[in-house]
Amino acid sequence: MFKILVVDDDSGLRLTVTSALGEANYLVEQASDGEEALNKIRSSSYDLVLMDVNMPRMNGIEALKQIKSYDPSIIVIILTAYSNIRDAVEATKEGAYNYLEKPIKAENLVYLIDKALRAHSMVRTMSFSAPVIKLPGGSTFVGQSNEMKKIFNVIDRLSRVETAVLIRGESGTGKELVANAVHFNGPRKDENFVTVNCSAIPENLIESEFFGHEKGAFTGADSRKIGKFQFADGGTLFLDEIGDISAGMQVKLLRVLQEKKFTPVGSNREIEVNVRIIAATNRNLEEMIKKNEFREDLYYRLNVLPIFLPPLRERRDDIEHLAFHFVAKFNQMHRKNIKGITPAAMQLLRQHNWPGNIRELENVIEHAFVIENGDEISPMSLPESVSGSSLSQFSGLTEAGEAALTNAATAQGADLNVGFTLDLNRLDFQAGKEEFEKQFLISALKAFKGKINQTAIHANIPKKTLLRKLEKYGITARDYQ
Ligand SMILES: Nc1ncnc2c1ncn2[C@@H]1O[C@H](COP(=O)(O)OP(=O)(O)OP(=O)(O)O)[C@@H](O)[C@H]1O
Ligand SMILES: [Mg+2]
Repeated sequence: MFKILVVDDDSGLRLTVTSALGEANYLVEQASDGEEALNKIRSSSYDLVLMDVNMPRMNGIEALKQIKSYDPSIIVIILTAYSNIRDAVEATKEGAYNYLEKPIKAENLVYLIDKALRAHSMVRTMSFSAPVIKLPGGSTFVGQSNEMKKIFNVIDRLSRVETAVLIRGESGTGKELVANAVHFNGPRKDENFVTVNCSAIPENLIESEFFGHEKGAFTGADSRKIGKFQFADGGTLFLDEIGDISAGMQVKLLRVLQEKKFTPVGSNREIEVNVRIIAATNRNLEEMIKKNEFREDLYYRLNVLPIFLPPLRERRDDIEHLAFHFVAKFNQMHRKNIKGITPAAMQLLRQHNWPGNIRELENVIEHAFVIENGDEISPMSLPESVSGSSLSQFSGLTEAGEAALTNAATAQGADLNVGFTLDLNRLDFQAGKEEFEKQFLISALKAFKGKINQTAIHANIPKKTLLRKLEKYGITARDYQ
């Protein structure tokens, strides 16, 4: 059921509107001014707000601005005392859906609200699909997990406002992609999206990189240079790795953010800019503030709308979709026709911890593309970091081992039965694991005719580890030649 908040200092009007909406089956609550309305909105959720303009404490236009910056998806309809077109125009500029003239007619009111809420629920459902990033490279966003659906929803909201955004997350979680999505799905999409990697620019050049310089401003400045802030005018400036900028630059950056003006190096002319800032970092800024390494005032300027990207290991539901997404991407890029990923290889991908997150997964799939000769990505073409990490896990060993051996078996027709019987009276995990390892290695050696190098490669086990294990279990490779 939709929930509506009626905000007006006239209690008679509140009552009439409340009863009309109640009859139309809406859930209605009331507030007598903007401030009370905001408090209610912060502590409960409303789909729509009907709001008067002239009210004590906080007027309707100010309340509208604050509601929209708190949650842009709440619909606001303005009630004007008489046909005051100025209020109405201002209100729609600030994001009001529409306005109604007083005295309010019940049937007009219900009609407008029905229409608004229908459009609104469409927006809400739409915002759960992944944002598309219209870049020349044609990047797409992938994510099926609940965590990613929430992120898509947040991106959708962030795209519709102009406030600073701070994107947090481990390396490779997609911070740059999110910054792109916020820009290219928003009102500034046709303007420049300019990236500055704050950690990649030498300290003595960063000021000129940001603000530009005049010819002759310093040794080596042989021509005039336009800074990134000016390039981004009207558009978005993406400050990547913001945690890495020096204390001196933090002060200068804070000044532009506050005053929207800057002075190029060696110039005495101030330049005014209108730039939306999106910043990203994988560092713990709160810790840095405690250690006086990052300015708290700058942090608050940037952190108006925070967005946190969870590591891939905390959204494992996405692994499979991302893996297929990258297979499609590399098929096109490398002009190959890999049809999929074998279940055993997928199992390894799902089990891996992905310290390098999505970038690591992308690299792993690309690596497999180079190595794989078949038409599916198999465990054999996965790097040791992925296949090896699960060798210590019993289940992973079975899957990977079996798959590797089955593949080899077709080629060599060896006896690949690695099964053994468990003694249910004396079950012991460690002993079982060792027995399995022993049988596994014997079968693998049989398959590859006692050749150590081949066995190591095909069974995805480092040669050193293989030799150590053979010694441990008293297995002689030559016996299987
Ligand atoms: N949800 C996603 N769907 C598709 N591709 C993704 C997704 N998230 C990230 N990627 C891809 O993973 C790679 C890493 O993403 P990105 O560069 O945005 O990460 P990052 O958080 O900025 O990393 P770093 O902190 O190392 O700079 C990119 O190639 C990006 O296109
Ligand atoms: Mg990045």
